[in-house]
Amino acid sequence: MTSILFVCLGNICRSPLAEGALRNEVERRGLRIEVDSAGTGGWHEGQPPDPRAIAAAGRNGVDISGLRARTVTPDDFRRFDHIIALDRSNLRVLREVAPWDATAAFSLMLDHVPGREGQSVADPYYGDDEDFDITWGEVSASVAGILARVA
Ligand code: 4NP
Repeated sequence: MTSILFVCLGNICRSPLAEGALRNEVERRGLRIEVDSAGTGGWHEGQPPDPRAIAAAGRNGVDISGLRARTVTPDDFRRFDHIIALDRSNLRVLREVAPWDATAAFSLMLDHVPGREGQSVADPYYGDDEDFDITWGEVSASVAGILARVA
């Protein structure tokens, strides 16, 4: 079974939205893909997603309120087939902390959206509901591309 880990900074805004969007499509299409998310920073360990992220997903019929933030672990690099960073800064950190025997394939979230390769999903943390809707739109477009490639 293919496994995919989404990684942002805090694991409370962008990567939980990505996890929710992909998980929803996987269930809707009856696919067998393992989906998880994590952060490179541990400040929000154990916390649910940001209320604005929960609301944005909810506006699109997806419940992410049960997710809990965690930090990336060395084992993630061996356990997941794909590690998908939400932005360039976190992709750089992932490459730095990856163990020598990492097997996961790295990519950027927007590498999976034609015409947006190499770009970052902006951090909506200091934004408003509209920014969270933009994030949802971007991760949804990416999920469509990911499924076209791996499913
Ligand atoms: P995320 O957003 O990386 O999309 O979850 C952030 C959440 C929290 C912080 C930064 C970004 N923070 O600095 O606490």
